[in-house]
Amino acid sequence: MLKKIKETVNYIQREIPGAPEVGIVLGTGLGGLVKEISNAIKIPYAEIPHFPVSTVKGHQGQLIFGDLGGKKVIAMQGRFHYYEGYTMKEVAYPIRVMKLLGIRTLIVSNAAGGVNPDFEVGDIMIIKDHINLMGNNPLLGPNEEEFGPRFPDMSEAYNHSYINIVKKIARHHSIHLQEGVYAGVTGPTFETLAEYKYIRTIGADAVGMSTVPEVITARHMGVPVFAVSVISDLGVEGKIVEITHEEVIQAAAAAEPLMTTLVKGLIEQI
Ligand code: HPA
Repeated sequence: MLKKIKETVNYIQREIPGAPEVGIVLGTGLGGLVKEISNAIKIPYAEIPHFPVSTVKGHQGQLIFGDLGGKKVIAMQGRFHYYEGYTMKEVAYPIRVMKLLGIRTLIVSNAAGGVNPDFEVGDIMIIKDHINLMGNNPLLGPNEEEFGPRFPDMSEAYNHSYINIVKKIARHHSIHLQEGVYAGVTGPTFETLAEYKYIRTIGADAVGMSTVPEVITARHMGVPVFAVSVISDLGVEGKIVEITHEEVIQAAAAAEPLMTTLVKGLIEQI
């Protein structure tokens, strides 16, 4: 696996001038950040050796390398979800590639269903911790010693100092923030009412179908993480309405400018 990753890394290195310092997974809610990246070099996933290829038609995934907030960044436009049928190893692959390219920080965004009764649709939630309910883990199997330890510590999965920086930026811009625990599920079904209740009971504030595998992979390699959710729907008794994918996208679009301000500000300050 390491040999493949190195081939991927060598290919990307030939395409970009310099090494990225920050990796970004542009999930729902952060798409607008692309426009802020200057001197952008775009590499379609399909051209990168050994890179997972998007199964969804019209989903042109690509890596974007460039300058943002005074740093060299590499952003994944289009991520790989476990529910699409990728293995956990495939979901983890680009994160390992970004680490070998040089990233020292990983930033991730997603859309999530709120299960905390104080949340509203459109809220932005800083992820302070997670619960892995995916029934799988990208680190199962023989440990890749080059990347990290057999039993990685997860006590600070989400970097406290990054969280404090983002809270300050939010105060400065009067951006209303929530903070909470993200439960990662496989999907592709949204939750039943009983499942939302269960997820709340075990200590989560939001639930979604991504992020956990990428964060585990980054922490294994010692890369500090910042992650943020847009609350796109509510799994709270009395507030639950039937949701569609379109509504999830709509809620995320509204929060996008604020998310962009927060993430750009964080990159400037780290
Ligand atoms: N559940 C799981 N994943 C999600 C949800 C949800 O309610 N909303 C957006 N992603």
